[in-house]
Amino acid sequence: MLISRRKMLLGTIAGFSLPRSSTASNPKHTLRPAPMSVRWGRKSNRMSGFLGFNGSVPGPELRYRQGDQLDVRLENGMEDGALVHWHGVRVPNQMDGVSILSQEVVPPGGHYDYKFALPDAGTFWYHSHYMSYEQVGRGLFGPLVVEEHDPPVVDHDIIAMLADFRTSADGMLDTDFSALDDFGREGRLGNMTRVFLSRNSVQKGDRVRLRLVNAAIDRVFRLDLGGIAGAIVAIDGMPLETPTQLQPLILAPAQRIDIIGIAETEISFNLRNRNSQASVASISLEGQNPSPDRSPIPALPKHNLRKPGRISQSLELLMRGGEGDRNHSGHSSWAFNGVSGLPNRPFGKFRRGETARLILLNPTGFSHGIHMHGHHFREITDNGTLGPLRDTLLVASGETREIVCVFDNPGRWLLHCHMLSHSADGMATWVEVS
Ligand code: C2O
Ligand code: CU
Repeated sequence: MLISRRKMLLGTIAGFSLPRSSTASNPKHTLRPAPMSVRWGRKSNRMSGFLGFNGSVPGPELRYRQGDQLDVRLENGMEDGALVHWHGVRVPNQMDGVSILSQEVVPPGGHYDYKFALPDAGTFWYHSHYMSYEQVGRGLFGPLVVEEHDPPVVDHDIIAMLADFRTSADGMLDTDFSALDDFGREGRLGNMTRVFLSRNSVQKGDRVRLRLVNAAIDRVFRLDLGGIAGAIVAIDGMPLETPTQLQPLILAPAQRIDIIGIAETEISFNLRNRNSQASVASISLEGQNPSPDRSPIPALPKHNLRKPGRISQSLELLMRGGEGDRNHSGHSSWAFNGVSGLPNRPFGKFRRGETARLILLNPTGFSHGIHMHGHHFREITDNGTLGPLRDTLLVASGETREIVCVFDNPGRWLLHCHMLSHSADGMATWVEVS
């Protein structure tokens, strides 16, 4: 892999500039976070204030096959601490990248070797988990794809990472991550949306797998895709038993959706606002596929996660805080069960393999995307059936949602809101599985 020194310093022009990793073996990679500036689009300005992995925002695409060993050295090129979290991957606890609970913070100039087998195929992502509100907001995230042993046949497998960034008056990244009103409300919403595509064009009639990832720190994307006819085949990396209808899409921070469909016209990414639509990116058509595959969209190969057993305990997680709500201790904006920040004792204690129900209550005025580390869970729907596996669930203001989780991964795991300004300001707790 050759990256010119110039490119290292100045960063990417648009989308991913780094080649895919090989899936043939289990290659070693280095991820080196460091300050950088970016230039997205030929006519746009170079923007300073970013942090990139290996000189790129987003970081390089890591692509493996199910069962492979991930082998990545984190080399800290920043003046702050560094940690990497493999979002959605069922990692061993000491590989989870969470300070206090599972790992020491890697100091400037230091390194840490992440090594573990990848148990599940799916669309995942990696991101900083040290001061993640600021470090992810400045660009420290990238895609992690684990291919099925027997993947569905498609003409193109395309990653689309969505993120938004806030710029300051001078057109540079706004590097003030301390604005107090961001914390108590919806968080730091950017004024610049980017869809980072691993490929910009397809042929008309091509069968395309689209892997959508929301890497924004706080923004929920409401997305309509134009020009592609197909189905949702996976949510948060986990295959659906039967592919479901495509529209409309809602992606809370950290959530993923996999789609397989046929490119009928240019594929457009349209964000829905209250009563407007804005196209933010597109995949153009170049030529026509002479022999398009018109067979039905197949379901992805099944996952091998354990089925929930008898529910042994039910725990309530009460969200509190935000503007106008001070029903919790301390000076932070947000809290779970009256406590802001990590409590000394775990919110839940589970014996390995235990199935538990968590009741997520959101009486606050804002939505929260609740993420469980090291596990996937299912929602208990209104009629008592179980929804698809997820690792992050969006709970809207006023809602109560119930999830059921098989706690079979030993260790101490974070449970937090993935609106990263909320978790930075208190909305985090943890569970222990032993
Ligand atoms: Cu995507 Cu605690 O992480
Ligand atoms: Cu939140």
